[in-house]
Amino acid sequence: MHVTVVGTGYVGLVTGAGLADFGLQVVCVDKDEEKIETLRSGEIPFYEPGLKELVDKNVRAKRLDFSTDLAEAVRRSLVVFLAVGTPPAPDGGADLSQIREVVLKLADIVDEYKVVVTKSTVPVGTNRWIKRLFDEHKKNSIDIDVISNPEFLREGSAVKDFMWPNRVVIGGESAYAIAIVKDIYRPLYLIETPFVITNLETAELIKYASNAFLATKISFINEIANLCELVGADVHHVAKAMGLDGRIGPKFLHPGPGFGGSCFPKDIQALAKLARDRGYNLKIVEAVIEVNKDQRRRAVNKIVEMCGGEVTGKVIALLGLSFKPNTSDIREAPALTIVAELLAQGAKLKAYDPAAMEEFKRVFPPEKILYCDDPYQAAEGADCLVLVTEWNEFRYLDLSRLKDLLKSPRLVDLRNVYNPSRMKEMGFHYTGVGRG
Ligand code: UDX
Repeated sequence: MHVTVVGTGYVGLVTGAGLADFGLQVVCVDKDEEKIETLRSGEIPFYEPGLKELVDKNVRAKRLDFSTDLAEAVRRSLVVFLAVGTPPAPDGGADLSQIREVVLKLADIVDEYKVVVTKSTVPVGTNRWIKRLFDEHKKNSIDIDVISNPEFLREGSAVKDFMWPNRVVIGGESAYAIAIVKDIYRPLYLIETPFVITNLETAELIKYASNAFLATKISFINEIANLCELVGADVHHVAKAMGLDGRIGPKFLHPGPGFGGSCFPKDIQALAKLARDRGYNLKIVEAVIEVNKDQRRRAVNKIVEMCGGEVTGKVIALLGLSFKPNTSDIREAPALTIVAELLAQGAKLKAYDPAAMEEFKRVFPPEKILYCDDPYQAAEGADCLVLVTEWNEFRYLDLSRLKDLLKSPRLVDLRNVYNPSRMKEMGFHYTGVGRG
């Protein structure tokens, strides 16, 4: 079977490479010629473990190709996946202009039955709108079916999430189209992946509700961590014991500087707006957003307090800039807020990140931050070291060397990577999040 995947961002590229690996004939299309050239030359425009290998393997097997020619790709495909961006709109909703652009092009070029599958996260009602938009602009009497097939992949483990998903959600009206999409995911039957087959609106909402629930767990544990600090409790033990209750589960109970990334912040804003537009106030979701904003402010305050109440002229070294480990993505990263606020308060900043420094330089050029080659160079002469993102390589640092390099042995651990008692024994002024 031939399929087209439109959009070569995280979702598009992982979907394209993953489907090719399932044995389908895939063309990934993007209007950005430079991006397509990059991909054709064998480069991946962002860092994602395992993706390059998967792309290379399937390109070599001639199952995966890249193109800017949407018409040609679609002509050969029965199924067209939409994986273009749906960034936040100024009103907090999702900006659907890229989806609109592709659907209008499809209306222009499609001359036989197609199944259009939406992978991009879109507000409830969007898939029905896609069908309407296509029908209003189509040049002939050809029919299409629209399927909602939300993607749950996490950056940093996107390939794994595609190959071994927790579930596949397929929403639609046409049993024929649903069967086609189910057939595409046939290799997942072998690993007994559960399939949830439902209607369009339900599939769309499943994605938002899942992300909002995970974000709720994070904001919840962040608030409990803040309370732990006030009462002398240790949030690690609280979270561990909570997680041992099967109804709660151990995951997403790790406190920190608040969640970031390209999905959670935008998706929960969009969900809250969707509800408000229907006259309903999603009180929990609104609170999750508020708590997340506060958690970033608290992270900055922790650093300022550690520096004795003010940071003017102080040198602060940041370890980790990406919104989470194993990605170069800095969208909505807590580091962005922390850096902006510390600079505004007159601090001098040094930073090291294994993958995200080039991205970060686009927002904060080297005149504003001294970018370093490794954590030790960053720590040298600094008044305070801050662990912002828990990259694995930061777990095994030579802490006594770091301590010697620092001007003052202050360490703010925003991800609770280190052991507080051991850090104190070593002579660090140490603070984590919610650890008494
Ligand atoms: C998320 C969802 O997990 C994924 O299913 C969805 O499709 C897209 O959004 P992603 O944005 O890649 O994936 O990152 P994720 O690993 O979920 O982390 C999101 C943010 O939450 C990060 O900033 C992370 O640091 C933070 N987080 C996560 C915590 O602060 N504590 C936790 O316990 C877990």
